[in-house]
Amino acid sequence: MKEAEIRIYYKKKINEFKKHNKLYFEKSSPIISDDQFDQIKKEILDLEKNFAYLKSNSSPSKTLGYAPSKNFIKSQHRVKMLSLSNAFNGEDLENFEKKIFNYLNQKIEIEYSVEPKIDGISASLTYKNGLFILGTSRGDGITGEVITDNLKTINDIPKKIMDEDFPKDIDIRGEVFIKKNDFIKIKSKFANPRNAASGSLRQKNSEETKKIPLNFVAYTYGYFESETIKKQSDFLSALKKWGFKTSEYNKVLKSIDELENFHKKFEKDRFNLQYDIDGLVYKVNNFELQKRLGFTANSPRWAIAHKFSADSSYSQIKDIDIQVGRTGALTPVARIKPVNIGGVVVSNATLHNEDEIIRKDIRIGDTVKIERAGDVIPHVVLVDLKKRDKKSKKFIFPNFCPSCGSQTIKEFNSTTKKYDAVRRCTNEGFECEKIAIEKIKHFISKEAMNIDGLGKKVIENFWEIGLIRFPQDIYNLDYNKISNLEGWGDLSVSNLKFSIEQSKNVSLDRFLYAIGIRHIGIENAKLLAEYTKSIKNFLSFINKKKLKEFLNIDGIGDTQINSLNNFFNNKSNYNIIEKLSLILDISDIKLNKNGKLLNHTFMFTGKLSNMSRAEAKSLIEKNSGSVVSSVNKKLKYLIVGEKPTNRKIDQAKKLGVKVLSQKEWLNLLD
Ligand code: IVH
Repeated sequence: MKEAEIRIYYKKKINEFKKHNKLYFEKSSPIISDDQFDQIKKEILDLEKNFAYLKSNSSPSKTLGYAPSKNFIKSQHRVKMLSLSNAFNGEDLENFEKKIFNYLNQKIEIEYSVEPKIDGISASLTYKNGLFILGTSRGDGITGEVITDNLKTINDIPKKIMDEDFPKDIDIRGEVFIKKNDFIKIKSKFANPRNAASGSLRQKNSEETKKIPLNFVAYTYGYFESETIKKQSDFLSALKKWGFKTSEYNKVLKSIDELENFHKKFEKDRFNLQYDIDGLVYKVNNFELQKRLGFTANSPRWAIAHKFSADSSYSQIKDIDIQVGRTGALTPVARIKPVNIGGVVVSNATLHNEDEIIRKDIRIGDTVKIERAGDVIPHVVLVDLKKRDKKSKKFIFPNFCPSCGSQTIKEFNSTTKKYDAVRRCTNEGFECEKIAIEKIKHFISKEAMNIDGLGKKVIENFWEIGLIRFPQDIYNLDYNKISNLEGWGDLSVSNLKFSIEQSKNVSLDRFLYAIGIRHIGIENAKLLAEYTKSIKNFLSFINKKKLKEFLNIDGIGDTQINSLNNFFNNKSNYNIIEKLSLILDISDIKLNKNGKLLNHTFMFTGKLSNMSRAEAKSLIEKNSGSVVSSVNKKLKYLIVGEKPTNRKIDQAKKLGVKVLSQKEWLNLLD
């Protein structure tokens, strides 16, 4: 068969698969046997294996086993289900602990609860008065799918708990997984044990879930108010006493050295376990400390997943493409001969940046070692020089942006006194096509404006046909034109309209993040929003050229100020923000108004003991107080730490501001 014919045949098989998948998962009324359904899937997978150019988002290789979430009622988690940040080596671990010490402004011996990271699907189980009444999947972390009946089929999950110590109202969280032995029996249906667990758990009909032996290990809680349990390790023991399965490998260790040694040993032994684990989880054992450390946007500061090393394989580089990112960074990507690494077919591998190519002297035609770990992008580790073609030439990195032709540069970093490893397109705004598309994709993304139904592919498509050039165009779309496009129907157009309309109500921090200023991630956007309080005020900082004042914000430094300057020096960027601020309803930052420190303003001078400024500020704000940056009449309290600036104390006394020691201040909060 010729390529064109193969493509047509493949498309036909994909359509068949889509049809039966829908009948099977969504309607739960298949019209062919399971074997026939498996046969279609297998044929598609084989075609993809043999012809690397065949790709489809609807392929079973991408959608294996997942029932569409439309099948389930949704339920908002009482406490968010977050993920964990990853460590891959000792250095990452040391940084993890260093950040904890910085946040606490104190170096102490930390005890860790060490738990195997089972590679399955997390679930949350709500028990009220000892009865299992609601079970949910993680979903997007905020809202999960109600899968109570399916979870009830799992033997490891207690349905009724009589133990009198068991809390009256609690969410127990843990991992649903399938043992390696059980997976072998159903291997043909699923790509890996994790997929099997997920597919089975999210069946519409719980009778289907019953057919696959699933297990559950409990490791944490969501909603739970306890006075008595003070440590994670004690909570794990309590789980066991209440009748849950917990990992027999859980233990408590004390230092990063101990963690690393245990990790080394466990990494080798893990193959003897009955189930797949992809790393170890370390949690600060003490709940009080966990509470102080709190969370960043997606993960707790008090826990980390230490992954096991990657799977790797060799392949040949067919070509090197240069991708242009949202911030203008040029990322070289190796297009390689497709190769199976740990069960996943890889055909692209990142080369990171220009320096990396030079350092490893990577060339088109080279045979290279490629590594992939978990959901991290596959990357090139080394070149097999013995296999290099004598005629091969060094790869020359482009001096001009492949998208807009602007000059590319490597910036000088004044802190590290080094040039950046990354080369960038010098275009700051929307004049570079690739940057503009990436900026719009960022704008609509989940953490930003969160416009459901406007995925990355749709943005690319709308760009191609000239429907959008700037973020504000999203709010002025030609829906007639869209409804005539292939793949769009009345329902999807009205859904799109609805979610665009909904996104108009946005908080200031999300908006500042959405506009995509380099170095202004979610956390920094929050800081700026909290400081400026409203979009009007934010823009007045820009107009009055008062950006330097942001240096008063703990966490904002010269890098962010320079970046804000560069961004707003570009007229088109400013115009876009102005236009958007007229279209959108950007809500002001409203503070918690019920705390003890309402209407109290604070300022610090000197070093606090056992607490960073960031923690102190967040403590004040949690209690409705605010932190100001200069001594003036509005200031109510000056908190004095070690080695304070005496001038500030004198000034405060003159103005009648109360001067407090750290202890007196903490007494205000009990
Ligand atoms: S704690 C905020 N403990 O890893 C705390 N998670 O990347 C988050 N996981 O979604 C969860 N074993 O599916 C925790 N002992 C363990 C775990 C574990 C596996 C999974 C879980 C979670 C993911 C986080």
